[in-house]
Amino acid sequence: MTEQVSPAKGVHGVVGLPGDKSISHRFAMLTSIAEGDSEIHNYSTGADCRSTLSCMQALGVSHTFSEVEGRRVLTVHGKGISGLTVPADTLDAGNSGSTIRMLSGILAAQPFTARVTGDESLVKRPMRRIMIPLTEMGARIEATNRDFPPITIQGSNLHAIDYSLPVASAQVKSCVLLAGLYANGETIVREPITTRDHTEIALRELGADIEIEPRVARVRGGAKLHGKMLVVPGDISSAAFFIVAALITRESDLIITNVGLNPTRTALLDVLKSMGADIRLLHIEQVNGELIGNLQIRSSAIKGGTIQGATTAALIDEIPVLSVLGALSENGLIVRDAAELRVKETDRIETISSNLRAMGGTLATTHDTLEIPGKQKLHPAQIQSCGDHRIAMAFSIAALAATGPCEIHEAEAASVSYPEFYATLRNIAR
Ligand code: S3P
Repeated sequence: MTEQVSPAKGVHGVVGLPGDKSISHRFAMLTSIAEGDSEIHNYSTGADCRSTLSCMQALGVSHTFSEVEGRRVLTVHGKGISGLTVPADTLDAGNSGSTIRMLSGILAAQPFTARVTGDESLVKRPMRRIMIPLTEMGARIEATNRDFPPITIQGSNLHAIDYSLPVASAQVKSCVLLAGLYANGETIVREPITTRDHTEIALRELGADIEIEPRVARVRGGAKLHGKMLVVPGDISSAAFFIVAALITRESDLIITNVGLNPTRTALLDVLKSMGADIRLLHIEQVNGELIGNLQIRSSAIKGGTIQGATTAALIDEIPVLSVLGALSENGLIVRDAAELRVKETDRIETISSNLRAMGGTLATTHDTLEIPGKQKLHPAQIQSCGDHRIAMAFSIAALAATGPCEIHEAEAASVSYPEFYATLRNIAR
């Protein structure tokens, strides 16, 4: 599907967001192995989170969607920590790295063997990072070239480990913590820098035996989880597209409601404010241990700057749209320490470069950096999403500030995390 996006003077109105993708995955997996039913409000509508639900269904956990006062509610009928059953077929994680990596932690402890695969992008993404700790815990895992899906996991009785993550990754941390729920003893995961802590928060909410300290989480195996009512905050990584849209267009005033504001995810707001963004927090509350708030964003002159180290890791999913902002900023944007971008849904250093160049932009890249000069003029272009949701959406936002309309090819990729993206964009762009 090709979407045409025309230049806009601004974005206006009030926008609600789909549920956070990261939190939705965790709620679906954890409520599946909890005792009893859980009602999940605002579960992500994206295809990735559907992949998680269909994997859990194939493992014997049923769910239903219903409507309560016009809102979609997901009920997961939890089977308890030992209730999963052997899947009839290979599990399909679709495009979702979070699904395959986190679910592997649960599968490693089951009394059966399961095979997991995904789409043509997922089978190119590295899995050795989860195979190493899970093997150390006692699971047996086979993968293509010892790294890539399909992976076959032969579950076993796991023993606890004390694991220091070599790469900062919330998916790997979560995978080991989920395996730790089943392991004999106390599993400790240490991270070099703080990554998103939704798994730790959700585990605590559902009654796991977990201790959380800065950059260290400890979980003791054997505790039961208990189903409950849960609310998923709006996805700040989806909000990022409209935040940047408001900043780069001349006459914008946008309110985004119910945005997840977990401090491990809000580096985006801090970085943007330090670059001159007019972003205001209108309201904030805590639900299920996660912060949720409303934001107001107005057109702003953005200075640009450098993103590196722990900050790059904290906003790795937002780099595609920040690259667009960088090209339109006063002084440009340098992103360092971004090698992880090369192993996302696409090699994003490559897909950012090719699309920015297609719009007449310039940038320099290395294996782990992007250097994007500021004050660039972006021109009408044929944008190739290459099947990557964040590339489709980032360059749709770039099109708002181009000198003429752009065509976004394979725009349907957006539905991996945000199926309503183009409808919402059409509603708010003037
Ligand atoms: C995610 C963690 C990040 C992020 C991904 C979602 C998660 O990946 O890029 O979109 O839900 O834990 P890594 O853990 O590989 O850094």
